[in-house]
Amino acid sequence: MNSAFPRQLVSTKQLNPKNIQLFLEKTAKMEQALLENKSSQIMQGKIMAALFYEPSTRTRLSFETAFHKLGGKIISVAGSGSTSIKKGETIYDTIKVIENYADIIVMRHAQIGAPGEAINATQKPFINGGDGAGEHPSQSLIDLYTIYKEHGKIDELTIGFVGDVKYSRCIHSLTYLLKNFKTKLVYISPKELAMPHEIKKFLTENKITFKEARQIETEIKNLDVMYVNRIQKERFDDMEQYKKLKHSYIITTKLVKTGKKNLIVMDPLPRVGGILTEVDQLPQAAYFRQVKNSVPVRMALVDLVMNG
Ligand code: CP
Repeated sequence: MNSAFPRQLVSTKQLNPKNIQLFLEKTAKMEQALLENKSSQIMQGKIMAALFYEPSTRTRLSFETAFHKLGGKIISVAGSGSTSIKKGETIYDTIKVIENYADIIVMRHAQIGAPGEAINATQKPFINGGDGAGEHPSQSLIDLYTIYKEHGKIDELTIGFVGDVKYSRCIHSLTYLLKNFKTKLVYISPKELAMPHEIKKFLTENKITFKEARQIETEIKNLDVMYVNRIQKERFDDMEQYKKLKHSYIITTKLVKTGKKNLIVMDPLPRVGGILTEVDQLPQAAYFRQVKNSVPVRMALVDLVMNG
């Protein structure tokens, strides 16, 4: 098994127990250095291109924060409207150009598979910052680190995914990542937003224990982690169907209190429906702690893809 970290991270399928262990150790070190206010200059003289052709608050700004904290500089794009993609330039050509400016590229794009086109154009370190309803590997590394910190382990946990399981790139990437652990997975969604067939095939082929359910109330008592992802308006062609499904799950204080004592509630955010703000006061609400973990995770990730 190769412990070297991939230089170009497109999917969490590329990761294995050895490089995940390396990542967890490096993130803990980065977090400790941040706590101790120790500055690092390991990216001094390096430039990150942060190309966000689809909206983002957390991913773009936390990658930028992480790279600044490591002493590097950023060039960025927020939205495709101000770039030559608007004129019809391909992703391939865009990356062929940007590789001349930057030492590492992070890209978010609405199109599934766009990262594949990007890495065909460059050998430079590359991180998929989210491709449509495909994957979001750096978010799932934040999620993994959060679960590890909160529970002290990953193995033997039961993790329930609630909401838009079909289109959630965060849930897809975390699912692939959890192949490396002994967890039980529960996917709770309306039938219209159930896990795509090819991912269920992956789970079966990799002998990962999972079940599908519709009601959170009947499942919550078995969960160690409740991972909520909003019903994502931007993935629907049919707005009537979105309106029908958007309030499928409302996470209340009363509901969370029916779960295990050590249940944690996670959400990659943004919050749009789903978890009520009253839940924020509960110790189970881990989603803002999850956000806090994003900076050391992305510092570690950048270091790993650039320096192996
Ligand atoms: N979690 C996440 O990807 O958030 P943004 O869309 O704001 O980057």
